[in-house]
Amino acid sequence: MTESAAPATEELPSEYFQDPLRFFARMRDKRPVTRVTLPDGGRYWLVTRYADVRAALADPRLCKDWMGKLKPPGWEPAHQATTFLNMNLLNLDPPDHTRLRRLVVKAFTARRVAGLRPRVEAITASLLDAVAGHDSVDLIEAFAFPLPVTVISELLGIPAADQGRFRAWSNVVVSSVTSQEEWFTAATEMYTYFTDLVARKRQSPADDLVSALIEARDAGDSLDERELISMMFLLLVAGHETTTNLIASGTLALLSSPAEMARLRGDPALLPAAVEELLRYVNPLNHATDRFTVEPVEIGGVTIPAREWVLCVTSSANHDPSRFADADRLELGRDASGHVAFGHGIHYCLGAPLARLEGEVAFGALLSRFPSLALAVPESSLRWRPSSLIHGLETLPVRLR
Ligand code: HEM
Repeated sequence: MTESAAPATEELPSEYFQDPLRFFARMRDKRPVTRVTLPDGGRYWLVTRYADVRAALADPRLCKDWMGKLKPPGWEPAHQATTFLNMNLLNLDPPDHTRLRRLVVKAFTARRVAGLRPRVEAITASLLDAVAGHDSVDLIEAFAFPLPVTVISELLGIPAADQGRFRAWSNVVVSSVTSQEEWFTAATEMYTYFTDLVARKRQSPADDLVSALIEARDAGDSLDERELISMMFLLLVAGHETTTNLIASGTLALLSSPAEMARLRGDPALLPAAVEELLRYVNPLNHATDRFTVEPVEIGGVTIPAREWVLCVTSSANHDPSRFADADRLELGRDASGHVAFGHGIHYCLGAPLARLEGEVAFGALLSRFPSLALAVPESSLRWRPSSLIHGLETLPVRLR
């Protein structure tokens, strides 16, 4: 049946952020393609079944270039920073996306990522050294946040002294309960910071990703100033918000499944498969980033009209029992390939190899270093951040001995 008349908008439960998968499971069964209004007031269509999510992520009729295709004539953004920061891969369609992605891929090579392993191990060891004498710590503050932010900052060439500021900025930028003014302030500060950094790197290039991005050339083409700044913004936000939550939520998942944790401790060769399963199971992102229709598009028997926003709910797809048997169970040995935690199609995560590397090193070191690792508070007291996109804990207090 094709349902083209606007169906009822689903109400989000008040505790949506605390347990989004429960809501998505209900939608998969009842209304796999449905409309919702998010807490920030945004109106979206949610796609929740695995097959529909994968098809939608590969569908060129679901677009991302809202500045080019949705902007009303004559509309100008109130803040220059908005335009600059939005000109990144996640807000572009082919051919612009193809052109930009090709240039970034040239700088963000597999060799550059593989070469980072010793440095990721060293940062991990020094962060764990720093807490080894403590009885308990907030694992996010002490480890899950500083590891990826240090790695991506070093990769980009951001001085250590400036790294702390990014947490506050990017927290605001991904929050669903932030005011517009707060968003613009954080975005403008980031934009100013990156503009200065690019100017400095132009003057004195170094062996880092920003210098490589400045230098990247493809058939005479290169990134212009706005594209460079926007790319750095994307890499920084995408490069730590997500990996922090893979490490923190992944650790919580292991602590909640002691038999699986013991199995991984006893068999470190399981780490690569374990990271895939943890990605599938914990989903650092609830859903892929926004897409919109430019013509009516049928998904799962429902016709979404033109000029509507669509969220492909990757976390729901990864828990769809029609694709993954016993999907709500953590099973580190399972074949989790085909999960969509890194997306699918042309926007597939550019940082996936780096995230996998950081996950393997982090879980391996944490488990071998702290044999008595345990939650320091009742699990029911843990709170998830109020972000629609990011699925991450506010804090993760753990006992280390
Ligand atoms: C566990 C960690 C990570 C997860 C779960 C994750 C997830 C994702 C997902 C789902 C997308 C596709 C979004 C969409 O189609 O709307 C994506 C894209 C992207 N990610 Fe990641 N990511 C992670 C880590 C990273 C890291 C470490 C970096 C960079 C250093 C990064 C950089 C990017 C970029 C640049 C894109 C845009 C690609 C494009 O539009 O062509 N990500 N990521």
